[in-house]
Amino acid sequence: MRKDDAEYVVSQRASWHGVRRPVALMGAIACAAILMATTTANAGNIEKRDFGKLPDGTPVFEYTLTNAKNMSVGVINYGGIITSIKVPDRDGKIDNVVLGFRDIDSYVSKNPYFGVIAGRYANRIANAKFTLDGKEYTLAANNGPNSLHGGVKGFDKHIWQVKELPGGDSVGLELAYRSPDGEEGYPGNLDVKVTYTLNDKNEFRIDYAATTDKATVINLTSHSYFNLAGNGSGTVLDHKLTINADKYTPVNATSIPTGIASVEGTPFDFRQPTRIGDRIRDGDEQLIYGRGYDHNWVLSRPNDGSLALAARLEDAKTGRILEISTTEPGIQFYTGNFLDGTLVGSAGKMYRQGDGLCLETQHFPDSPNHPDFPSTVLKPGETYKTSTVHRFFTDKI
Ligand code: BGC
Repeated sequence: MRKDDAEYVVSQRASWHGVRRPVALMGAIACAAILMATTTANAGNIEKRDFGKLPDGTPVFEYTLTNAKNMSVGVINYGGIITSIKVPDRDGKIDNVVLGFRDIDSYVSKNPYFGVIAGRYANRIANAKFTLDGKEYTLAANNGPNSLHGGVKGFDKHIWQVKELPGGDSVGLELAYRSPDGEEGYPGNLDVKVTYTLNDKNEFRIDYAATTDKATVINLTSHSYFNLAGNGSGTVLDHKLTINADKYTPVNATSIPTGIASVEGTPFDFRQPTRIGDRIRDGDEQLIYGRGYDHNWVLSRPNDGSLALAARLEDAKTGRILEISTTEPGIQFYTGNFLDGTLVGSAGKMYRQGDGLCLETQHFPDSPNHPDFPSTVLKPGETYKTSTVHRFFTDKI
């Protein structure tokens, strides 16, 4: 993270909690000094192991990034899938806080997007159609009438080229994929790079970049299902969530946004830390459409491409806290509503509804059909660039 980004995040956090900024900044600088002193002894490392084969024989590898504090992130070259994020709780006990599978076959045959890079267009495009420069494009419809997460074979189902990025106080992986012109109905050859970086401050950063040779639309996100109490430990209904948003995009019965509305007085108001289970069963039409939370929030943030604090998730039982900062204008909060007890995950436990939650930083769903939403059009000569930082810590630090 650039220094000015780090300061921005700190200043956002200070203002959230009503702490006076200079005090918070001094605290943060002191913490950073202690962290630097304690992390110079070990360097991070990257391990690579076999993770089986695709049905056509293509080998799949799992890379594990480990930082000097023993936090680790597992990634496979299939779908750029994050298979694990292991972080300490308040007593130093390390556990995996994302849902996943143990084997490649499960990822290939039944993955509800656990940990994937979703693209070319994350979330939905209504009726699997959009018009760009006067031409109508028809996409693969894979979610009722709509196209979801890039279509039948989205970025989550392709092999990515991986380059290891060893470093000083961070380790990373650069994943590259060329999406050919016409793939799943999208125009333009799109060259995509996603860089995962884990630093010694327990920050896991994702940088997305892409260029195209024809005008197209693009919206990339990372689709981890978090459970800060540990993968396979039950539901996330006791987690407390804060979303830095005054507005959200309500949806129709097929989860397509109908516009922008205030969160005031609704179960969608997460401006103060709120237990996720408190209102999830309210007989609210929007919650019924989503079978729980499955909506995009319009982040309250400057429109300047900076990293701004979007959401904070806390688990009182383990003391684990996750803060997400992003350059994106929106975040999809999804409470794993379609987990139905048919999948057994990497902890050997079966997943039921609400056992994990997604916080997907993104542009708004169906933007190509909403000229009033921030644009998702990418033209030749331009570079798509977005970043998201996941900062893990505990209520003890
Ligand atoms: C969508 C959900 C969908 C889920 C798939 C989320 O991003 O908003 O509607 O079911 O991804 O796992």
